[in-house]
Amino acid sequence: MADKTTEVRLAFLAALENVANADELEKLRVEYIGKKGYVTDLLKEMKSLSNEEKKTFGQAVNVLKNEVNEKIAEKREDLKKKEIELENSRMPEFDISMPANLERGSYHPITLVQRQCEEIFKSMGFTVEDYSEVVTDYECFEALNIPKDHPARDMQDTYYLDNGQLLKTHTSAAQNAIYKKYRDQLVNEGKPIKAIFPGRCFRNEATDACHENTFFQMEGVMVGKNISISNLIFFMKTMLSEVFRKDIKVRLRPGFFPFVEPGFELDISCLICGGEGCPSCKHSGWLELCPCGMIHPEVLKAGGIDPEEYTGFAFGLGLTRLAMMKYGVKDIRDLNSGSLKTLSQFTDDK
Ligand code: PHE
Repeated sequence: MADKTTEVRLAFLAALENVANADELEKLRVEYIGKKGYVTDLLKEMKSLSNEEKKTFGQAVNVLKNEVNEKIAEKREDLKKKEIELENSRMPEFDISMPANLERGSYHPITLVQRQCEEIFKSMGFTVEDYSEVVTDYECFEALNIPKDHPARDMQDTYYLDNGQLLKTHTSAAQNAIYKKYRDQLVNEGKPIKAIFPGRCFRNEATDACHENTFFQMEGVMVGKNISISNLIFFMKTMLSEVFRKDIKVRLRPGFFPFVEPGFELDISCLICGGEGCPSCKHSGWLELCPCGMIHPEVLKAGGIDPEEYTGFAFGLGLTRLAMMKYGVKDIRDLNSGSLKTLSQFTDDK
């Protein structure tokens, strides 16, 4: 009988060598330790054995079963690692001196990261919302607990239209409308609000390697019962590990925004200089990538949601910065330049 376990074991190890993807691995798992698998079948043969034999044979089969389980888990990790390596190796390295490829069109790098983030959040049950670039003062500031004359407005000077409306300075300007759109579902059906809203933002800003007057953000909010900072951290971590597919250093520090309490800055270690300091990260080695926090009660109230009953988090991911870090674009201004030399390098990455 011991020969039989050895036989099954060797056959399994040989088959495992030839497994090339996750589907094949699953097939092999079922073939060996599924209900009708070879290892499971071995146990059925115990009936014909003496008590003494049953004991040793049973033990041997169990050892084999554990080994098969372990080897399959190892292989799964291995396949995943290989897949990520392949994906990373295909990622285009941005090089400003490359000639333009004018034969084929290509997606803008910001479109690429935006789509990737949308997929990640959609898979976690978030809806993707669209919102206007021209908004009212109420939407951009007042509804976000930033009354007229509040000093926080200084950091978000923008372009005003003759009719008093303005070009939105942040995607947070859509928060109020999103709360109003979904509050009935939240209150009547108990369905938490889970939405992301990517969009172009504008600020009257002096430009340099890491600042532009036009940039993209992606806001995300989640409101429901008992939503806490740990939910926020979970979603941020998942998003970053999916986008970068490698370990990156992050830090969370307190940050002030009138529409969250408490508020945080989530920074990532600059991937352009490896954290040493360079013009892309204002020589600090860190990049403010995703300010976030727990939604301020006044902001929930303005959206028609009772802050005594519901809580939520909000984040404002810098999509432009994310694209810079992911693709190694050193100067933010290259992204808005419309230069085909820059943009045509992203043709192959969907
Ligand atoms: N809207 C803020 C900004 O652009 C970022 C932010 C969004 C902060 C959501 C906290 C929560 O600076």
